[in-house]
Amino acid sequence: MKKIIPILIALALSACSAMSPAEPTPTPDPLVLQGQQVFNAKCATCHALVPDTIIIGPSLNGIATRAETRVEGQTADEYIQLSILRPGDYLVEGFNNVMITNFSKELTNEDMNALVAFLLTLK
Ligand code: HEC
Repeated sequence: MKKIIPILIALALSACSAMSPAEPTPTPDPLVLQGQQVFNAKCATCHALVPDTIIIGPSLNGIATRAETRVEGQTADEYIQLSILRPGDYLVEGFNNVMITNFSKELTNEDMNALVAFLLTLK
């Protein structure tokens, strides 16, 4: 039995090296990339993406996870969209209703979808 283990280890190692050496880098989703650009242009003045950092609004680090349970009956997707279009509906504790409210006019549907897709990657 003792002799079998090193053989198994050797087999496992050789199996590993036989696999393709480098996984291809996944192609970034173009919609998510577009959303990140919209975020940088319109939202980054008030929202950081690093944890626990308040600019004017709360950090959006982990927003995709938080959004799932923010408002009962709303999915993360719905909560994020409403937070952007009608920010006064739900106020994050400790913050005032100072978020700009003309995003529904300012953002195209495509930009909006891209932005939500991007924010949903922030788990
Ligand atoms: C003028 C500053 C300002 C700008 C610009 C701004 N926000 Fe906000 N945002 C806030 C503040 C303040 C809050 C907290 C009060 C509230 O809930 O509305 C907030 C809350 C949020 C929330 C809820 C966060 C949570 O933890 O539940 C989301 C999501 C959000 N903003 C997304 C965005 C997006 C996306 C943009 C860009 C389209 C944006 N914000 C632009 C100030 C801003």
